[in-house]
Amino acid sequence: MASWLLTTALLTLSTYAAAQEYSSQSNTFNSSFSLSPSQISSANLDKTTVNNVNIAIHFEQSNWATGSIHDDPFYTPPSNASCAPPGSLLKVEDYTNTTLYTLPPNVALSRIIFQSAIYLNDHTNAPVPASAYILWPWHPRIDPATGKYAVVGWAHGTSGIFGECAPSHIRNLWYQYSAPFILALQGYVVVAPDYTGLGVDRWPNGTKIQHPAFNNPAHANDLFYSVEAAQKAYPDELSERFVLFGHSQGGGAAWGAAQRQARQPVEGHLGTIAASPVTDIVMQYRITPDAGWPFELVPGLLSTIPDFDDSDFLTPKGVRHYDLLAEIGGCASSYLPLFYQPKLLKPGWDTTPAMQEFQNLTGNGGRPISGPMLVLQGTGDVVITTNLTTHFVKETCALYPNSEIEYALFEGADHVPTLYASQRIWLDWIAERFEGKPVKKGCEHRMYRPARRVEAYQQELAYYMEIATQSYEVA
Ligand SMILES: *[C@@H]1O[C@H](CO)[C@@H](O)[C@H](O)[C@H]1NC(C)=O
Ligand SMILES: *[C@@H]1O[C@H](CO)[C@@H](O)[C@H](O)[C@H]1NC(C)=O
Ligand SMILES: *[C@@H]1O[C@H](CO)[C@@H](O)[C@H](O)[C@H]1NC(C)=O
Ligand SMILES: *[C@@H]1O[C@H](CO)[C@@H](O)[C@H](O)[C@H]1NC(C)=O
Ligand SMILES: *[C@@H]1O[C@H](CO)[C@@H](O)[C@H](O)[C@H]1NC(C)=O
Ligand SMILES: *[C@@H]1O[C@H](CO)[C@@H](O)[C@H](O)[C@H]1NC(C)=O
Repeated sequence: MASWLLTTALLTLSTYAAAQEYSSQSNTFNSSFSLSPSQISSANLDKTTVNNVNIAIHFEQSNWATGSIHDDPFYTPPSNASCAPPGSLLKVEDYTNTTLYTLPPNVALSRIIFQSAIYLNDHTNAPVPASAYILWPWHPRIDPATGKYAVVGWAHGTSGIFGECAPSHIRNLWYQYSAPFILALQGYVVVAPDYTGLGVDRWPNGTKIQHPAFNNPAHANDLFYSVEAAQKAYPDELSERFVLFGHSQGGGAAWGAAQRQARQPVEGHLGTIAASPVTDIVMQYRITPDAGWPFELVPGLLSTIPDFDDSDFLTPKGVRHYDLLAEIGGCASSYLPLFYQPKLLKPGWDTTPAMQEFQNLTGNGGRPISGPMLVLQGTGDVVITTNLTTHFVKETCALYPNSEIEYALFEGADHVPTLYASQRIWLDWIAERFEGKPVKKGCEHRMYRPARRVEAYQQELAYYMEIATQSYEVA
């Protein structure tokens, strides 16, 4: 199993799946998953694809901390969930058992269900229940303004598009040391929505909740409402003030949150960090057309545009692969064998009226933002390209010169690794917001270069974490 899979949200490298046969490694936990003969024949899969899907799903399931979301009663929303207003707290799991997660020592975990809202193409926000985790530091930082714990709302990069892809039931919480572990170890209470449709994927009556993938206003709702609900769950502990931070799909969520703040201000919001952010998904596709992620837009359009039909987008083979992945609950690791194949998308999918409508409704950039925003971008990013992020930073600054945007570029850094190159920058920036350091109006642009030549640096995450079962394994 190539370990970069785990961390490369919004995957690229389309040729990998066809070329490479996966091999299984030992893993502490078993899943007994295997595609059934009828699944194989109805999706018309070849032997290599079957092998690769079985291994990828096995890997994903072995990384579930609390089993399937459908077996974990936590993810069933309470029966009165449909009538609660957005921001309501619907359920609290005060102490989540950390022994099945791969967390660093001296952090604690809670999980909540809260009411969020999906942004629809009639410009309304429809309430929907969703889940989030709260990662607690041992020694929290105190927000000087309130005397309570400083809070960061964290929006993850793509983990997948179906219910099982919820970070709150994945052992490393999906982004591990890339951000959430570091935030908690540095004293911030991390409130991290799974996003609507991931985790809680059914209404109390059993109707499916689709993940509105890449609907940035919907993801922004998830961020604000999960923080609000967490504050309701822990009113004496959590500060009313918070910073929002996200990467990739979550960078899109964060930028969307800064735009939402301009339309619908939320008290206590101190600023936003959009790292390697999704801006315009179609423009990105045209720059990197080999990417397999247009598939990820299918549930986004299904949930946002009521008359969208996935066969407008996908070839019959594409529909078969999509339906199979939905049925087996596959996430980002199983995209590669199923989605990174030729002839799954219909030519012209990106110019269909539904896609244009979605793009217009949900895009980031060229729109007003409120609150300071730090944008982080690696120049070696092969998923979210520098020129697109630069384009939308510039456009926003030209149209709204009073935007407070700091645009920081990191020479040579790839997609998720940008969070490692920039760690000191974002930690300082968050601390400064809580300290009340003033921000200059207008846009600043900064290029950071490494101390050694770019090629000297470890480029990607090259490990994944397993639970130690023996005392000699914990060194
Ligand atoms: C893994 O499978 C083996 C053999 O089938 C079984 O003995 C063991 O209990 C399983 N472990 C877990 C954690 O399910
Ligand atoms: C289930 O509940 C949701 C939310 O209230 C509603 O939108 C949906 O129509 C219901 N489905 C059925 C089959 O009643
Ligand atoms: C839902 O019902 C529970 C009791 O079952 C109640 O405590 C809670 O306040 C209700 N939530 C809302 C948002 O109405
Ligand atoms: C947490 O889970 C472990 C492993 O399943 C179990 O041994 C332990 O008793 C649980 N702890 C609590 C507090 O429930
Ligand atoms: C895009 O959205 C704006 C503002 O919501 C609207 O005025 C415009 O007509 C939309 N354009 C298209 C092509 O849908
Ligand atoms: C970004 O670069 C690609 C080629 O590398 C080009 O096709 C595209 O038009 C550029 N986009 C912007 C917004 O500058």
